[in-house]
Amino acid sequence: MSVVFHEKSGEFHLFNDEISYIISILPNGQLGQLYYGKRLRDRESFEHLQEYGMRSMVAWVGGLGRRDVSLELLKQEYPSFGSSDFRNPAFEILQENGSHVSNFRYVSHEIISGKPGLSGLPATYTEAPEEADTIVFTLFDEVTQVELKLNYTVFRDYNAIARSAHFENKGSQTLKLNSAMSFSLDLPGTEYEWMQFSGAWAREREPFVKKIGSGVTSVESMRGCSSPNQNPFVVIRKPGTTEDCGEAYGVSLVYSGNFLAQAEGDTYGQTRVMIGINPRGFCWNLTPGEVFQTPEAVVVYSAQGLNGMSQNFHELYRTRLARGYWRDRERPVLLNNWEATYMDFDEEKILNIARKACEAGIELFVLDDGWFGKRNDDFRGLGDWFVNTDKLENGISGLSRKITEMGMRFGLWFEPEMVNEDSDLFRAHPDWILATPGREPSLGRNQCVLDFSRKVVVDAIYEMMEKVIADSDITYIKWDMNRSITECYSAAYAANQQGEIYHRYILGVYDLYERLITRFPEILFESCASGGARFDPGMLYYAPQAWCSDDTDAVERIGIQYGTSYCYPVSSVGAHVSVVPNHQILRETPLETRFNVAMFGAFGYELDITRMPEEEFEEVKKQVAFVKQYRKLIHTGTYYRLADPFATNEGAWMVVSQDQKEAIVMYSRILIHPNSPVKRLKLKGLNPDLEYRIEAPRKKEVSRCGDELMYAGLITTEPAIGDIGEAGADVYTDFYSKVYVLKAN
Ligand code: GLA
Repeated sequence: MSVVFHEKSGEFHLFNDEISYIISILPNGQLGQLYYGKRLRDRESFEHLQEYGMRSMVAWVGGLGRRDVSLELLKQEYPSFGSSDFRNPAFEILQENGSHVSNFRYVSHEIISGKPGLSGLPATYTEAPEEADTIVFTLFDEVTQVELKLNYTVFRDYNAIARSAHFENKGSQTLKLNSAMSFSLDLPGTEYEWMQFSGAWAREREPFVKKIGSGVTSVESMRGCSSPNQNPFVVIRKPGTTEDCGEAYGVSLVYSGNFLAQAEGDTYGQTRVMIGINPRGFCWNLTPGEVFQTPEAVVVYSAQGLNGMSQNFHELYRTRLARGYWRDRERPVLLNNWEATYMDFDEEKILNIARKACEAGIELFVLDDGWFGKRNDDFRGLGDWFVNTDKLENGISGLSRKITEMGMRFGLWFEPEMVNEDSDLFRAHPDWILATPGREPSLGRNQCVLDFSRKVVVDAIYEMMEKVIADSDITYIKWDMNRSITECYSAAYAANQQGEIYHRYILGVYDLYERLITRFPEILFESCASGGARFDPGMLYYAPQAWCSDDTDAVERIGIQYGTSYCYPVSSVGAHVSVVPNHQILRETPLETRFNVAMFGAFGYELDITRMPEEEFEEVKKQVAFVKQYRKLIHTGTYYRLADPFATNEGAWMVVSQDQKEAIVMYSRILIHPNSPVKRLKLKGLNPDLEYRIEAPRKKEVSRCGDELMYAGLITTEPAIGDIGEAGADVYTDFYSKVYVLKAN
């Protein structure tokens, strides 16, 4: 991997073994985009890839004496507003005199081994300088006296480019930064498809595909969090791209607040793709000396289809975005009491569940909502992070010690960013919430949002949390966030700073995470936001796993986890076995299927294990042992999507070990049909020359070669319905699934 500067042509070639990204300096000093895609052989100039030409009715750049230089027609890196380009800009600066026009000209560049961090913001990182090269371009706008730094990192081992922008006002004008995207890329052609991941509470990240064509296609969040409705991740792909072949650009924002992802097909046959903080509701005061750093965007180019794209994101995000003690450690099998007890528990009830969980081999007990303040329902208590001794007479310290003595770890739920009006915290500090003067704040789940843009508020919450954690044996925290932000206004800031509050809020969240991680480096954090409302790369930097969805129904989860897998690694996907009928949708699914789906995640149970029939409990013991045996493979193996549950009656995926000697396949058939057709599932990523033993519950062990399994397929046909009950036959119902373990001889 390298960054090469061709002095004569003024071009920059960023490349690794697989990809090339080529930048030029345009005649007006701005940065132009020449190429991004499959690796090209390096040469002095690729200038011919930029098409200059005089066209009628375009505006050309002033002062150059050239009529063939119109920004409207040129592919650019970080386009500005208000000059000869009429497409959406990557940023916009408002001057004191009312002008919105800027022109950032190349001044210099610096090539750095490795990757510098971003202060206060989550970002991918390197562990050794040889893992990546970074080029930092310095550009300057004479009129506003603003310096712009554009950062690009090319990784050695991933087909990924990380980008961000940094503004600094070096002049004396008070400027306003009205928008500042993290990433903008002009691609040739408009024949692209757009893939977005949309949903709502309990049905997060369903893939949707549209044609881009001419005009703007976008998704965004204005909820103060990345949201369950849209994810800060989109795919731009060539028509015909499949899971296994074809070109795809995955565009991901390492940020947890409001965002905008957009593609604009222009009428000259180019497509501008961008992602960053949503400009709506955003305005940063760039006063003299002030800086603004955008969040980071990561873009992965794949010539090996969508699976190839996802695998790059998985590896990069699992190993160079997630951090800390738990990054590479096997995650504990947990039991969470939420669906078991909700808020109705006392110490005895909890200890009984924990004892039984321990007997099953479960390693971590998580006490969810309801342990603090007067929290007996969701109308009160949030903000009062001290134990309710009516429920837990020995406090969290006493309970956690008893559970630790059993041989299990103990984890605790917090919702640090929220407060109920019925709480001591709110009574003491009614002005600590986000609320617009003179208007009633909207409530969500009966709660208000604390003003995390204020250090005093973050400090107070830190102190309360720090005390509980320091006094107890806590090795895991579930950090929840259960409502969108409304009336985003801070009483502590001036009128002209209100456009900063959404972003300052998220910076406050990151700050609290960072402080807690620094103080308690061995705690495993799991982020949560009513399930998956803040399932984004920003959170992964602090919490290596996230509760994927409040929907624990196994069939729903096949889709949710399948959609989530387009960007996020299996190790980040919190997934639990819960009871039937399922609490969200009342469906009854076999225990085996609930397990088969949840094991492809950061695995646990969320049920009252003391109420389980004995034979199910025995099954659970086997499941826990199975996960312990295979979790490393499941979390670190290469993941392939095999069958799309949104398009068919089946859902399937698999992981393959790095050495291709082991693999685990999950195959599910949602609804049963009588006398069903023959089925074959073509496996992926195996070594064609190896012979694999295939183990599956209630199936005779067989051996098959890798080539046969990939090219002819694994036979998953069920016998005709009349065969049910025959010795050795499987149990066929709706919501059937099977896990196959493959081991090479
Ligand atoms: C949210 C979470 C759940 C649970 C409840 C507790 O809904 O997603 O897992 O923690 O809050 O109130």
